[in-house]
Amino acid sequence: MKNKKFILLVSCSVWIASILSNCQSGSQKTDTVRLDTIPLTKIWESAIPHQSIPKGLTSISAESCGTCHQEIYEEWKLSTHAAAFIDPQFLAEWKKDDVYVCLNCHTPLQNQQEFVVIGLIGGDHRTPVKARNPNFDTKLQLEGINCASCHVRNGKIIGLTSISLAPHISLENPKHLSEQLCVNCHNAVEELYPDLVCTFETGDEWAKGPAFAQGKNCISCHMPIVERELVKGFGKRKNRRHYFPGSGIPKFADQKSVGLAGLEFTSEISKETIRPGDIANFKLNVENKYAGHNVPTGDPERFINVRFSVENKDSVIVEKQFRIGEEWEWYPKAAKISDNNLSPGEVRTFNFEYEIPDISDFVLGIEVTKHRMNEENAMFDSLFDYPLSIKIFEEKHRLKIE
Ligand code: HEC
Ligand code: HEC
Ligand code: HEC
Ligand code: HEC
Ligand code: HEC
Repeated sequence: MKNKKFILLVSCSVWIASILSNCQSGSQKTDTVRLDTIPLTKIWESAIPHQSIPKGLTSISAESCGTCHQEIYEEWKLSTHAAAFIDPQFLAEWKKDDVYVCLNCHTPLQNQQEFVVIGLIGGDHRTPVKARNPNFDTKLQLEGINCASCHVRNGKIIGLTSISLAPHISLENPKHLSEQLCVNCHNAVEELYPDLVCTFETGDEWAKGPAFAQGKNCISCHMPIVERELVKGFGKRKNRRHYFPGSGIPKFADQKSVGLAGLEFTSEISKETIRPGDIANFKLNVENKYAGHNVPTGDPERFINVRFSVENKDSVIVEKQFRIGEEWEWYPKAAKISDNNLSPGEVRTFNFEYEIPDISDFVLGIEVTKHRMNEENAMFDSLFDYPLSIKIFEEKHRLKIE
């Protein structure tokens, strides 16, 4: 979800005062809600309703689940889901625009949200009708997409089996723990207002691609199977890892990143021309071989940079760069200008023609990097220590002119 301009939202004090006469005191008077309030309909327009603590437990925080489910907890802590709220980019963008809707995917439980949104005046996302949430839990908010976001509903823990040795009330519901859970958040296309749009199409890309046809879903690839104990002393069971590896670009400079490699690279170098002044050709084939959707997918600011260069030890003689990604214009109205993301199975060839330099010894280099966002946008949000990219391929050919 992106917009790159500062938008001044009509603040709580202006509109809430006219709707909920006792906004400041924290409770909500539904009888004063304006008649042109439109109910919320889309799944991500509302938080998951307030969840009580399942019998047998004392908290629904991930930290508390982690006292028994230690390994799963350690995996989840490294995941992007665990950073969905504390993500510096998220905080920068969300604070600037103060849009309620962001929270429904980044801190999805009502327990994690300071306000409860009950409708939109005139159906406009800029004017939500909100009331203070008396059950707001700041500790849970910091956990972002925690265990309870996916596993707690109606006072029960949702699992895959009905035969449970757990001290907590569990409910067997494999349908809930299916890829639909992922798609609910990873697929949303909506213009919230002219310069704020939501364009995550990972679910659609997957549904029309070859992985779907082969019976592989988000969970098959992003939660690999492992045989281990869910809780120490309870015996091994087949279950799944909870790192949710993705792009592999860490959120914090000191963070170990867990990623997946979607692309395969093969290079070809022309050998015929070796005299200075001749034109030589270097090719790189990039195939989206392992991802079940486009690469990059999701956030429209993501891109991949392919860089060819001819260098000697002192300087770059010539270089050429290619970009794989989307280009958007954000203001005054968000609009996609181009999109050359690699669809599943697609192979793209990048050609680099260069003149053999008039030096005896040079290096022909190729480097592919994956980027979360460009530097300009990072500076716009004052994200100075935020890791922006990782290197995913590098090849160097030392060439000698005889
Ligand atoms: C006091 C220890 C303890 C705590 C705290 C705990 N669990 Fe469990 N949980 C267990 C045990 C024991 C099992 C059964 C393990 C087995 O069968 O191998 C289990 C099983 C599960 C299962 C599989 C379904 C089932 O019932 O067998 C899920 C899902 C689960 N827990 C999620 C959670 C979540 C989410 C939390 C935190 C909100 C949590 N647990 C907190 C001990 C705990
Ligand atoms: C983004 C959603 C998501 C989050 C967050 C998440 N899980 Fe899961 N979890 C799943 C899914 C989906 C499965 C089932 C995967 C499968 O098909 O085997 C699962 C499986 C499990 C199981 C095995 C269930 C069984 O019956 O065999 C346990 C235990 C579990 N999770 C515990 C946790 C704990 C503890 C946390 C937090 C530290 C957590 N999960 C966070 C989605 C999630
Ligand atoms: C409640 C909404 C929600 C649900 C449910 C959810 N996700 Fe996510 N997921 C997110 C958000 C938000 C992020 C990004 C957080 C950030 O970067 O600040 C994310 C990040 C990811 C990433 C990492 C992206 C990267 O760049 O590294 C992967 C992979 C992922 N999710 C897979 C899954 C899978 C698989 C499931 C289903 C088992 C799932 N998600 C369920 C909201 C959700
Ligand atoms: C066939 C395996 C496969 C399937 C199915 C799959 N993914 Fe992925 N996914 C990958 C791989 C591999 C990557 C790493 C791509 C790369 O190289 O950046 C990835 C990356 C991602 C990312 C990180 C964004 C990025 O551009 O790197 C997200 C988010 C994600 N997947 C979510 C999902 C969701 C949601 C689903 C289900 C609708 C899904 N994936 C289905 C393999 C898969
Ligand atoms: C429909 C669910 C949904 C909503 C609503 C949503 N997000 Fe996200 N957000 C995601 C998912 C899913 C990702 C994972 C990124 C990906 O697929 O590349 C994500 C990732 C992000 C990231 C990390 C981008 C990156 O490249 O790592 C930021 C920052 C972010 N969202 C900010 C916001 C803000 C600000 C809002 C509100 C204006 C918002 N999001 C609303 C689902 C959502």
